[in-house]
Amino acid sequence: MIQSGLKDTVFARNIVFRQVVDSTNTLAKTLAAEGSDEGTLVLAEEQTAGRGRMGRQWLSPAYHNLMVSILLRPEIPANHVFVLTMILALAVSEGVEDMVGLKPFVKWPNDLYVGGEKIAGILTEFATRDKRVEYVILGMGLNVNWSPGNEAIGLYPTTSIMAQAGAWVSRGDLLVRILRVFHGYYEKFRGGDVEDIYRRWNSRSLLKDKDVEILSGDATIRGRAKRIDRDGALIIDCSGEERRIVSGDVSVIF
Ligand code: BTN
Repeated sequence: MIQSGLKDTVFARNIVFRQVVDSTNTLAKTLAAEGSDEGTLVLAEEQTAGRGRMGRQWLSPAYHNLMVSILLRPEIPANHVFVLTMILALAVSEGVEDMVGLKPFVKWPNDLYVGGEKIAGILTEFATRDKRVEYVILGMGLNVNWSPGNEAIGLYPTTSIMAQAGAWVSRGDLLVRILRVFHGYYEKFRGGDVEDIYRRWNSRSLLKDKDVEILSGDATIRGRAKRIDRDGALIIDCSGEERRIVSGDVSVIF
């Protein structure tokens, strides 16, 4: 069903499914090192060592959610990889909106939120050779029909599409929708057309015009979030002076 739904996209060629795996990103990296093709999809029902950013865990029981890694081999310099994360975030939010009518917002750099609670996270990993990208792995965890609950995570509130929409959601249909949207933006990106991607991403930004606090290394920076720039940095206004934030954990100050 997933394979036929992905006909005519880069993802139709090689779908790798595992009932249990340590991490779909780790398996996708191994496959990439062994020479697997652009568009390889790795899906699993269960991860024993699902990974998030900053060494965090990603939790999900079997049969409820989506845990997917996408292997790409774009001919781009390493400093353009973040655009692929943006494209996946857009595809997840537009796919969810099309299918169930909820509107997820993107929290820089790689999270999706609905109603102030996290619904999905993206973990992007890549390898380079001679300053060019050899492969990129985009890992997505999407809470479709289950979320871990705030006690399990502690760092941020979590939710699921089912909790928000009030009904069980078909993971296969949703994945096909997300990947078809992704394919469209990926084609644009490869054609050099990124304007629409930036515009749409910025219009879905959860942080836009919010007062934020960013933990970046040992520093805490406060300001008002404005936009992301061409290098994927978050631009914040600190008392009239613009600052570029290239990495960090952001919280909104209420
Ligand atoms: C984050 O929120 O910090 C990113 C979470 C990414 C989780 C997904 S689940 C599929 C893929 N495999 C992993 O081990 N991680 C990503």
